[in-house]
Amino acid sequence: MILILNGPNLNRLGKREPEVYGKTTLEELEELCEDWGAELGFSVACRQSNFEGQMVEWIQGASEEGFKAIILNPAALTHYSVAVLDAIRAQPLPVVEVHLSNLHAREEFRRHSVTAAAAKGLISGFGPMSYRMALVYLADLLEGG
Ligand code: DQA
Repeated sequence: MILILNGPNLNRLGKREPEVYGKTTLEELEELCEDWGAELGFSVACRQSNFEGQMVEWIQGASEEGFKAIILNPAALTHYSVAVLDAIRAQPLPVVEVHLSNLHAREEFRRHSVTAAAAKGLISGFGPMSYRMALVYLADLLEGG
C-alpha cells in the first residue's frame, strides 16, 4: 500500500496556473495514480492538505498505518519546510519526492528542495507522469525486498 501526499494549493490543480501545472484536476490525478498503482499491483491512498502540520502527521504515521512507501509532493513546503524534512527522516519508509513542474526551469527560489535531502530521489517536470515514474520505481524497490 502506497501513500500519496499532495501539499498546499494542489487542491486547486486544473484551475491553478494551468500553463505551469496542466489541466488535470487533483481528483483526476488521484484517479490516475490509483489506476497506475493497480496496474503495478498496489493499492494507493491519496491525501492532500494545505497545512504543514497535517503533512507532518501523515508522514509520521504512515508506517503505523500500514503503508510501505510514500510519494510526496510537498508543493511550496518543498522550498522551506525543515519540519517536513525532519518528518521524513523520523520515519522508516522510502519517500519519493515528485513535482509536476520542472523546478529547475522556474524561479530561482524553486530550484532548491529542502525536503529532497531526506528522500530516495526527486522526479520533477513530467506532470502527472512524475507520479507514475515514482510508482514504477517503488514497485521495483518493494518487489526487491
Ligand atoms: C510544485 C512546485 C512547487 O514549487 C510549487 O510551490 C507547487 C507545486 C509542483 O508540483 O510542480 O505548489 O510542487
